[in-house]
Amino acid sequence: MNGKEIKILAIETSCDETAAAVVKNGREVLSNVIFSQIDLHTLYGGVVPEIASRKHIEKINQVIEEALDSAKVTLNEIDAIAVTYGPGLVGALLVGVSAAKAVSFAAGIPLIGVHHIEGHISANFIENKDLEPPFVCLVASGGHSHLVIVKDYGEYEIIGRTRDDAAGEAFDKVARAIGLGYPGGPKIDKLSKEGNPEAIPFPRAKVEDNFYDFSFSGLKSAVLNYLNSCEMKGEKVNTADVAASFQKAVIDVLVGHSIAAVKEYGYDKFAIAGGVASNSSLRSAFETECKKNGIAFFYPSPILCTDNAAMIGTAGYYEYLKGIRHGFDLNAVPNLKLGER
Ligand code: KG4
Ligand code: ZN
Repeated sequence: MNGKEIKILAIETSCDETAAAVVKNGREVLSNVIFSQIDLHTLYGGVVPEIASRKHIEKINQVIEEALDSAKVTLNEIDAIAVTYGPGLVGALLVGVSAAKAVSFAAGIPLIGVHHIEGHISANFIENKDLEPPFVCLVASGGHSHLVIVKDYGEYEIIGRTRDDAAGEAFDKVARAIGLGYPGGPKIDKLSKEGNPEAIPFPRAKVEDNFYDFSFSGLKSAVLNYLNSCEMKGEKVNTADVAASFQKAVIDVLVGHSIAAVKEYGYDKFAIAGGVASNSSLRSAFETECKKNGIAFFYPSPILCTDNAAMIGTAGYYEYLKGIRHGFDLNAVPNLKLGER
């Protein structure tokens, strides 16, 4: 780097977190400010896109200022602005993209659009200073379940994806069905500790033509059917057992597919990313299986698993090094594919 420090101001507004961060040389987080809107959306049992956009507009300037202040840097010291431009909720993405463009234009700082999933994967680089590609990464969030080979920085091959619900979506839907509310992941994680994961034999779905693809909608229906049949028979539901058995079914599939992929494709490093990656039982299941198979296991702290801007700053840094810059025609792309620019 010839001694030059690269500082990136990153912005993330793809869903219900208004976030900004300053990241130095890709792996050092100088600030990571997250304004979570969860309390607002909890009232409605899930994210309401229109409310998310409005709240982002209200908060974005304040969050950016806070990120600069707590990093003790001014805009003059920022080398590039990285912003999530997809995938995500279009109205929510637009707020971050517009803010990034405005700051970039006003201060004359280069602009870099970042893929949200690339951000999640890159969260692994922040605390694991020695982690370098290639490795296999499982991205499990509210909107995505991807099994990805990270061939190099910014180079991905997707070998498995969900055919229906994402893993986090299944957590959220099952949580709602057993009366836990939104967001379901952390609540099921907690309640599962009091339940028996072997109590109810929920299905582990296999997808016919690609072993590495996921399907969670059948599992979700199986849980709903189980709850209905208990109600019809007048049986009391043990929600902790339902939570633990559902969670175990998800974990078995995620772990089974991931370990098989690492072995078949011949890698020795594996990482997890996305909101579901903060699940405590999932982390310990991977810990055990990776150890058993001689695979080095990497994972971000929970705060870097769920949506944040530091991960966008890290991904943006590697794009910056490759010379990638976006113009002011950068737009929000709600269904942006990984690897597309
Ligand atoms: O990555 P993320 O913050 O946002 C998206 O990009 O979607 O992921 C949010 C998802 C939600 O579905 C939430 O229920 C799930 O991650 N989640 C969890 C846990 N914490 C968050 N799922 C299982 N266990 C957790 N501890
Ligand atoms: Zn996310």
